[in-house]
Parts: sequence; C-alpha cells; structure tokens
Amino acid sequence: MIEADLILRGARLLTLGPLKDERPRVGVAAGDVGAVNDGFVAARDGMIVATGHGRTHERFTRVEGALDKDVGGRVVMPGFVDPHTHLCYAGERWEEFATRRSGADYLAVLAAGGGIHATVRATREASDDQVLALLRRRIGDAAELGTTTIEVKSGYGLEPEEELRQLRLLARAKAEAPIDIAVTYLAAHALPAPFTDDRKRFIREATRALERVVDEKLAEAVDAFVEKGVFDIEDVRPLFNAAKKAGLAVTMHADQLNDVGASAFAARIGARSADHVAHASADGIRALARAQIPAVLLPGSAFFVGYAPPEARRFITARVPVALASDHNPGTSPLEGMPTAIALGVTLCGLTPHEAIVAATINAAHALGRGGRIGALLHGRRADIVVLDTDDERELAYRMGAPLVAEVYAAGRRVA
Ligand code: NIG
Ligand code: FE
Repeated sequence: MIEADLILRGARLLTLGPLKDERPRVGVAAGDVGAVNDGFVAARDGMIVATGHGRTHERFTRVEGALDKDVGGRVVMPGFVDPHTHLCYAGERWEEFATRRSGADYLAVLAAGGGIHATVRATREASDDQVLALLRRRIGDAAELGTTTIEVKSGYGLEPEEELRQLRLLARAKAEAPIDIAVTYLAAHALPAPFTDDRKRFIREATRALERVVDEKLAEAVDAFVEKGVFDIEDVRPLFNAAKKAGLAVTMHADQLNDVGASAFAARIGARSADHVAHASADGIRALARAQIPAVLLPGSAFFVGYAPPEARRFITARVPVALASDHNPGTSPLEGMPTAIALGVTLCGLTPHEAIVAATINAAHALGRGGRIGALLHGRRADIVVLDTDDERELAYRMGAPLVAEVYAAGRRVA
C-alpha cells in the first residue's frame, strides 16, 4: 500500500522521464518533457513514491496531515536545476554595466583591474555576516522562482585563503538553505595582483588549497575561467588533474568570449560539464558529443555583455546534451531565476520551449552529476516540484517575466 504525505493531482504533469536508462537527453529525448494529462505525483518523506494519471491515487493512504490537492489542470513539473551561478559576492557593478558595449570590452575592463577584481574588493570588504545575508537572500529569491537545486561557485576571493573563506560561508548557507546547494571551488577566476608575474605559482597555491577543500568537504567540483588573457589550458591542467585525483568533479568556463579549445579540453579531461561554449569550435562540439558531456548554455551573459549567444542548434544537432543556467553574477549576468534563462534560451539560443525545459531540469541535473536523483518526476527521486500558473508549459518561454511559478516544493516541503 502506497502511503503519501503530498499528492498533487489533476495536473498536466511533466515527468521528464521518458528514458529506460537515465542519461543526459539528446536526440528526440532532448525535446521530450514526458507530459501526462490528468496526472498526479505522490510523495512521502521528501521522496516521490508514485506518479501516474487518472484516479489510481485514490487507492493511496494519505498519512495524517497530508497535503492532497487538485491543481485544476495546471502544469506540475520538476523543480528547476540551476547548474551555474556566482551568488557569493558583495557590491554591484552599475558603472561597468552602463558603459560596457562588447565582449572585448569585458576583457579589457578585467585586464585593467576592474570587472571581477572590483567584485573581489567589495566581497573582501564585506563582513561574513553581510555576505551570508546576501547569500541567503539570493538563494531564497532563486527558490521563489522555482529553483530547487542550485550550483554556487566561490571565485570572488581569488587568493586561496579568500576562496576558502567563501567556501566556508557557502557551507554555512548550504546547511540552512531550503533548497539543495552544489558548491564549486572556482579556483582560477582571475589572476590576483600579488601573482601578476607568476601565474604558475598562483596555480600551485590554488592546487594546494584542494587538500583543505577536500578535508573540510567544502566543494563537489573545481572550476576555472579558461579564456584568452585569463587562464589557458596549460595553466589549469595541473589544477584539474589534481582535482580529479582528489575525487572532485571538474567543470569550466569554456570558450565564452573566444575559442581557446576549452570545449575539447573539457571533453578530454572528462569534465562534468563545459559551460558558456558560445565560441566553441566544431571540433570542440564533436568532442563534447563523443564524451556526452553536457554543454551548459548561459544566454544571460551573452545578453548583458552583448556577444553572440551560443547557438543551441549546433549542439542539439551534434547530439551534445544541452543544459541551461542563469550564471547569476554581478558582472556578466545579473539575471534572476530559471524562467528568464529558459525564455532567453529560446529567444537568443534557438532552443525549442520543450528543449529549454529539458535543459533546465534533467539535463541540468546531469550537469551537476545528479541526473539519477533529481530533474524528473519519477519514483525514487527527490520530491522537488514546481506548480505553474498555466496549463501550457510553453508559456515559460513566451511570457518572459510573467509570475508563472505558483508553488515550489523542495524534498516534499513547500518552500515558496
Ligand atoms: O560566468 N566570465 C567569467 N565569469 C563570470 C563573470 C564574472 C564577473 O564578471 O564577475 C561569467 O561570465
Ligand atoms: Fe560563470
């Protein structure tokens, strides 16, 4: 007998679960949201215990205090998974935002000691309590917009001790967060001033910090900004090799503004995902397809910085699994929430609305190494569920900015 403490029924249910064996969605599956009309989802103790359609749920036992609700034909779908954000910062970059006109300008501002460095200064000046309060607010805002798992990077400390400070603050924010946080050590985001003439020494020190990251269980993955004039492949190779040896996943800001061969490198090194990839070469895309490594598209940064957005069709036709993320950060993507990322993924990158939903749920879960646990409404998965204020999920891509997220459940508990 199935016992449930949460039942949402009478739904247009998007299960995102059409495959027999779980793997990143490509081909036909890249656009299949697994829709079931008059569907239901039932959960117990934070896990999904059944999904289906019609009245079979009537046989389930509702435990005392259960929430049992007819959603009146509205869309019920997995909570969004945001696999790439930089929420751990203080200060804003209004001036830079107002004056920036192109991708090249972005790197020029950075080279002149602004950009990322400006946020590093503001974050260092802020107290722990201030940074924690900002993190809490941003995580709460993401949950309000339907995100139930969010990756958050360090990366505004730069020097290893400051990065460790960020990671420890993230651990505190994670412990009390209403949604799941996947923490990433962004070890090489920009070269801090004391290391200007010695990037090898910087990478050595960042690599040495891995030991403490692992000992204190501060991160699941290591990231780097592999970009012209920032860090090249040879710079970051020892860092990534050490990270893999230490049991951490590897991910990277790859070919965001220039093709530096980072997508192919991500494939060679067995990265968990390759992110941005707006300027990935045909070879890079083929390599990602062969290795079935998710490409995380970040249309927000292309939109705000003004460079050519990643062309989703190049990845979809090559059978690269495509994911979407907000890339929320104060420099390139002050974008809030996955519904906007979905809308931009369609309007700027050329995904179909259903591909964008796959990219923001199950494929994003794969980009975080969680493809078997979240991202779909299937028996045995965490009960991370969103109810939309519409009976047609394509509205997410169409009515940009509309308040479509009506209810959010994380591990079966209502969080927004
Ligand atoms: O994903 N480009 C590198 N990192 C971030 C931006 C960081 C910043 O400008 O503060 C990105 O675009
Ligand atoms: Fe980023």
